[in-house]
Amino acid sequence: MGYAQVYADWQTDPEAFWMKAAEAIDWERKPSAALDATRAPCYQWFTDGLTNTCWNAVDRHVAAGRGEQLAIIHDSPVTQSQTRLTYAELQDRTARLAGALQAKGVTKGDRVIIYMPMIPEALVAMLACARIGAIHSVVFGGFAANELAVRIDDCTPKAILAASCGIEPARILPYKPLLDAAIAQASHKPEFCVILQRPQVSAELTLGRDHDWTTLTETAPPAPCVPVEGTHPAYILYTSGTTGAPKGVVRPTGGHMVALHWTMRAIYNCGPGDVFWAASDVGWVVGHSYICYAPLLAGCTTVVFEGKPVGTPDAGTYWRVIEEHNVRALFTAPTALRAIKREDPEGALVQNYDLTSLKALYLAGERADPDTIQWAQRHLNVPVIDHWWQTETGWAIAANPMGIEALPVKIGSPSVAMPGYAVHVLDEAGHPVPPGTLGAIAVKLPLPPGTLPGLWNAEARFNKSYLAHFPGYYETGDAGYVDEDGYLYIMARTDDVINVAGHRLSTGAMEEVLASHPDVAECAVIGVADALKGQSPLGFLCLNRGCEREISAITAECVQLMRDRIGPVADFKRALVVNRLPKTRSGKILRGTMVKIADGTEWKMPATIDDPAILDEIGDALRSLGLGKA
Ligand code: COA
Ligand code: AMP
Repeated sequence: MGYAQVYADWQTDPEAFWMKAAEAIDWERKPSAALDATRAPCYQWFTDGLTNTCWNAVDRHVAAGRGEQLAIIHDSPVTQSQTRLTYAELQDRTARLAGALQAKGVTKGDRVIIYMPMIPEALVAMLACARIGAIHSVVFGGFAANELAVRIDDCTPKAILAASCGIEPARILPYKPLLDAAIAQASHKPEFCVILQRPQVSAELTLGRDHDWTTLTETAPPAPCVPVEGTHPAYILYTSGTTGAPKGVVRPTGGHMVALHWTMRAIYNCGPGDVFWAASDVGWVVGHSYICYAPLLAGCTTVVFEGKPVGTPDAGTYWRVIEEHNVRALFTAPTALRAIKREDPEGALVQNYDLTSLKALYLAGERADPDTIQWAQRHLNVPVIDHWWQTETGWAIAANPMGIEALPVKIGSPSVAMPGYAVHVLDEAGHPVPPGTLGAIAVKLPLPPGTLPGLWNAEARFNKSYLAHFPGYYETGDAGYVDEDGYLYIMARTDDVINVAGHRLSTGAMEEVLASHPDVAECAVIGVADALKGQSPLGFLCLNRGCEREISAITAECVQLMRDRIGPVADFKRALVVNRLPKTRSGKILRGTMVKIADGTEWKMPATIDDPAILDEIGDALRSLGLGKA
């Protein structure tokens, strides 16, 4: 059956489509129905089913006699080590950590924050929570203590699981000082922390609060899997929105498993025993879905890679990993390929490795530029599949479903809508626009299984952010168009979210940080085009009247402030001091126009601008950084 037929089957009877997909999951009590519209427009899936994610991702493979198959390969060029865990070993470690958490009072529905680098224990921690029905929230290691504190206060965890350090190529990053600072700053205090001591850094434990991971789990009784309802939150993952406060995307248990399992064959064409590698981080949604849950649900071997595409030690690392571990499908962000291409434009290093195991390369997280796609096609000689999705959806809205039918690749497009998603391009008034016309991309409700049913403790924000603008639709926040063949093209965000090296960041959050500097009266942050990272943040500062301090000192302080408050991941390195910001007559900062001037693309004078002369000043300031038209 080809894609068109599968999509039509879903359209004809979504209930039957997802009930059939649900058969791939083990249920303690099978759901009697797929969709639950009782709380519409917040839809839920598999409400009366009872199941457990850890059972489905781990135990059932052991029960089926595949305990000796590799579940995880940890390949860590930054520590020059490799570790392999079978499904049986993963089950043992997970059950014992779950037992330890249970013994310390963690039960179903309690939140647990996980602050860990790319090591197998990060997956063990996630699965241990799932095993006992605790709701995990993984925080990316590149965030500063303040961001961790914000998440602690929002999801009020009973426990925090952390490692003693992360390892970046240039430095070792002790996590414990960040953790301690975050707990000190947060109003909510976790009851206890469990710290995994890595050989590189031995963290000092706080007596009475912190426990050593190894000691605690060594003696812990293994915990059995606790069945939970289909709608029980599996995890909360914070992502950037328009304001400084991150949004806690909630992932429901049943739909998550059903959808992810379906994607492993339909989109990635992988099954039991295949090696799947998502070169991302467990702190992002790609890491949740495709480093941890989906490959394990499908009985694959997942690669946990602790390194960078370049510099660990060279631009051939990805190809080495593919050869060494027989990787069948690689999933990465275009920015990683751009980094490799920049170091190895002719693909010379690719030739050093045997890549015959690789069947396809998948790209997501940001727009995949044609140059990068063509470079990968030329050198890897496999289909290069762009696909589009978001933290909110947890799996691809649009893709080329390689396990159903390899559709023709159109460079610049993440291909077509997946079953479950009725994608529409709308004008400002919410009317569908014809093919080829740019508009806001929206998905007709209900969203499919696995997507967010809401935001943690923020129902009003959920409605306002996603449902209010186009009633009956989910607003993706992306703009683009559909062509005559139904292929989607994602062109830009419609909000103030920017994408730096595949990382989703809020310019609003960065503006809040800059505004807190004592010399800054007003500010704006925009994302300017960057050849490596896609976008790069740039700040504009208007200083308080009478401020006579050295400008370079103020901008350096702002750069440091951003590092301290949001973290190195913000990659905020540049700020310009200007006298005024361009605004509309109603006072809205014209960020879009500033972006166009900075990128040297065509722009029109906004009709509502208050004072056009300000744009000349902005242009001059940008030229001082080599941006904009000369
Ligand atoms: N913990 C702590 N710090 C981290 C971190 C982590 N997990 N990840 C990144 N950082 C830090 C880096 O050390 C760097 O700090 P610096 O300013 O002191 O140098 C900063 O955050 C920016 O990091 P990064 O965006 O990784 O830039 P880079 O210049 O070090 O590397 C790339 C550039 C393109 C190689 C890198 O961005 C990359 O591999 N991108 C792929 C991203 C990806 O897979 N995203 C997942 C979305 S699907
Ligand atoms: P995140 O929630 O961090 O996964 O970021 C999601 C956002 O990244 C989307 O809303 C898009 O703006 C962007 N994005 C992700 N994948 C793609 C893609 N394949 N093409 C274009 N933009 C993408």
